[in-house]
Amino acid sequence: MHFQWYPGHMTKAKRMMQENIKLIDVVIELVDARIPVSSRNPDIKQLASGKKQVILLNKYDLADDVYTKKWKEYYDNKGYFTALVNSKSGKGVKDVNEVIMKACSEKIERDRKRGILNRPVRAMIAGIPNVGKSTFINSFAGKACTKTGDKPGVTKGKQWIRLNKNVELLDTPGILWPKFEDQKVGLNLALIGSISDNILQLEELAEELIAVLKEYYPKLLEGYLGFDISLKPYEILEKYAYKRGCRLKGDEADTNRAAILLLDDYRGGKIGKITLERP
Ligand code: G4P
Repeated sequence: MHFQWYPGHMTKAKRMMQENIKLIDVVIELVDARIPVSSRNPDIKQLASGKKQVILLNKYDLADDVYTKKWKEYYDNKGYFTALVNSKSGKGVKDVNEVIMKACSEKIERDRKRGILNRPVRAMIAGIPNVGKSTFINSFAGKACTKTGDKPGVTKGKQWIRLNKNVELLDTPGILWPKFEDQKVGLNLALIGSISDNILQLEELAEELIAVLKEYYPKLLEGYLGFDISLKPYEILEKYAYKRGCRLKGDEADTNRAAILLLDDYRGGKIGKITLERP
C-alpha cells in the first residue's frame, strides 16, 4: 500500500503557524496517544523553536495505559511538558492549566521581576488533522471563557480566548500535516482513521491491522475474534467475514465489508486499548 499527501496544504498551514508563533509564549501540541510519533509533524520543532512546548497525549482512553506512561516519560525526558488527556470526556483537561504554568514559569518570573503581574501567557494549540484540537479547545475553554477582540500589537482579526486569569488561547489552531515519507507513518495514520478511507485499500489495511495486533496484542485479538489466530492475516479476515455474516453471492466471504467492520471496531476501541508504536 502506498500513501500520499498534499504538500500544497502543508505550505499554507506552515506559513499560518509561522505568522502566529511570534505572538505566543507556548505551543501546545496534541498528539494521538495511540501513535505518539506518527501523529506529529517533525517541522514543529523548528516552527516552535525558542518557545516552550507542551505535548498532550490525547485520546489516551483508546491507547494502552502501559505505553502511554512510557511515551509520557519519553517526552518528559526530552524536555517537553506533558499531560495525558481525553478531550472527549474532559478527563485530564483541567490539569493542562498547571502544565502550561510550569512550561511558562521562567517567563512569569521574568515578568514578575520587571514588575509585570498577572500578564496572561499566550498559547496556541497545534496538531495534525483529526487529532482532537477543536474538541480539546472546547473542553479546555469551557463555557466560562470570553473571546477577546483585536488587541494592539496583535495581527488584525486574531481572536484570543481568555481561559482564566493566567492563559489566553489563540482560537485558530495550527494545523500541521504529518510526514508521509516514511510508509510506516502512513500506515499508522491510516489505521487510526486519519486518512480518508476512500483512497485506501481497506482489505489490505485490515490485514495490516491483523498483522500488527498479532505481534503486539495477540491476546486481545484472539479474545475479540473468538478463534485461533495462528492463520495468515488474509485467512483471519476471511474467517472473521463469515463470523460477522459478511457473505457475497455463492457464499464467498465479503472481506471488504469485514475489513470495514474490523477497522471500525478497532478505531472505536472495541478490540481494546491499543498503542501501535513503541518508544
Ligand atoms: P481536529 O480539530 O484536530 O481536526 O479534531 P476534532 O476535535 O474534530 O476531533 C476529531 C475526532 O476525535 C472527533 O470524533 C472527536 O470526538 C474525537 N476525539 C477528540 N479527542 C478525543 C479523545 O480524547 N478521545 C476520543 N475517544 N475521541 C476524541 P468524530 O468521530 O469526528 O466526532 P464524534 O463522533 O466524536 O462527535
